Amino acid sequence: MRRQIVAGNWKMNNDLAQTQTLITDLKQQTKTSKAEVKIAPAFTNLWSAFEATKETDIEVVAQTMHFADNGAFTGEVSASMLKSIGVKTVILGHSERRTYFNESDEDLAKKVNAALAHDMEIIFCIGEVLEDRAAGREEAVVAAQIKNALFHLEGEAFKTIVLAYEPVWAIGTGETASPEQAQDMHAFIRNTLASKYGDTVANTVPVLYGGSVKPSNAKEIFSKPDVDGGLIGGASLKAEDFYAIVNAF
Ligand code: G3P
Repeated sequence: MRRQIVAGNWKMNNDLAQTQTLITDLKQQTKTSKAEVKIAPAFTNLWSAFEATKETDIEVVAQTMHFADNGAFTGEVSASMLKSIGVKTVILGHSERRTYFNESDEDLAKKVNAALAHDMEIIFCIGEVLEDRAAGREEAVVAAQIKNALFHLEGEAFKTIVLAYEPVWAIGTGETASPEQAQDMHAFIRNTLASKYGDTVANTVPVLYGGSVKPSNAKEIFSKPDVDGGLIGGASLKAEDFYAIVNAF
């Protein structure tokens, strides 16, 4: 049985007071599934969120990090800084980082190496844009994202890597991938891993789906054999909706 995970990517939302209010609301929710629950507040709120959740089963994760340990990288944070406040999981490769901040596969490979060097768990995002899917290139694009940033690793590294398939055309649009589309791509992702690392590694790595997951569609998506949970944006900003998704297994 693979790990089941539901992570809330809060993106650039919630100031400190709103973060504390949302966490108070989250703590009042009841979890009825076996899913691991993670939240990714903005950097300014990470320490407060970590302190507010450390006695709970909610893990606080970072939305990104730089690959250097320190230095002249204005505005960035490092793995060691995150670890120093107790954060030990980081989201890497989100499409918004790739698009708006020009993060290349090469940059992401360096970030993966830095996170692993600091014993951090990684939620690594992959996914195609609408033009790629319209042209039938979705599998080639996702395979390249995996190979270019992860295939330099030994199989052992995948014990602390979670993948998140987020079709860019489904992020924030309300256009959720169908459960069948999600299952097809998740199975392809698992086969891509198996081609290099074998079935044992491929069948162990959790693969999450992200892109307009809502309480109304989560159960059907999570019921698919190769879907191990979700990376949730908008719906993670409301405690009741987020836990309706956490409990959708
Ligand atoms: O990282 C999760 C996010 O990209 C999905 O956003 O709002 O479509 O759930 P949303």
